[in-house]
Amino acid sequence: VEHLLGIKYLKPNDIDVIFKTADHFKEVINRPIKKVPSLRDITIANLFFENSTRTKLSFELAEKRLSADVINFSAGQSSVKKGETLIDTVNNILSMKVDIVVMRHGNVGAGVFLSKHVNAKIINAGDGTHEHPTQALLDSYSIREKLGTVKGKKIVIVGDVLHSRVALSNIFALKLQGATVKVCGPTTLIPKYISSLGVEVETNLKKALEWCDVANVLRVQHERMDIKYFPSTREYTQLFGINQEILDNLGKKIVIMHPGPINRGVEITSDVADSSESIILNQVENGVAVRMAVIYLLAQQIKR
Ligand code: CP
Repeated sequence: VEHLLGIKYLKPNDIDVIFKTADHFKEVINRPIKKVPSLRDITIANLFFENSTRTKLSFELAEKRLSADVINFSAGQSSVKKGETLIDTVNNILSMKVDIVVMRHGNVGAGVFLSKHVNAKIINAGDGTHEHPTQALLDSYSIREKLGTVKGKKIVIVGDVLHSRVALSNIFALKLQGATVKVCGPTTLIPKYISSLGVEVETNLKKALEWCDVANVLRVQHERMDIKYFPSTREYTQLFGINQEILDNLGKKIVIMHPGPINRGVEITSDVADSSESIILNQVENGVAVRMAVIYLLAQQIKR
């Protein structure tokens, strides 16, 4: 693929190649000298039009570990505030000889739009409620690391699926790799098209957790929420919040994941998030190696 705009544009072999490359970079970043000189001639711009902690820092670190030159842009401190358009903003940045653009944007399809109008490799770091491909790759990579494979595993995605780009990218990635996927949440937070993706809906949290090997717990996205979708936080937590008591009564261990940031005490309690069943911080750690792999593989296509 020319860009990483979404998991829906990938084939199973693309994911295999990314993971094998990430295995190599994971070994590199655990060495005393964590850097490789692979991208010394590449310049990367990280453009964040929406807030981020993990994705922004993880991309920046991945780029620096590959020895790329890095510039960072946050819309809030930029001339976007004076009315500059997306294309003007990006073309001005590209005129400084930038090769790769990593972009998070609130609009669905912003990465696809950009890829058609500018001459650079584009990596989608989250576009509205649509896709977050590197999150899905690091999530699958973390499942593979913990359970040996993704193929044949049963994954339930719990919570606010409607507003979640993490959910959609995960569904595409997991199904490409041969996992079975269910979603669990209030019917108002499950998109109507979900069955067309080959995903079953389970509205009973206990049944969903009894069924699965892995529960990927989503953040309730209050900032994208309309009152008609979400009656109350207390009610949500009573029906769909994951706590240690629920897990203890399953009679088996399951792997707990969360893309972050966590609403502690809403979709997941602190004891579960910080438990030995949780791989939440492993996901963050793996994000650097996976993003190094994505950037490295795209950079190999740049003609110099
Ligand atoms: N998981 C994730 O995208 O987190 P940030 O919003 O902090 O980047």
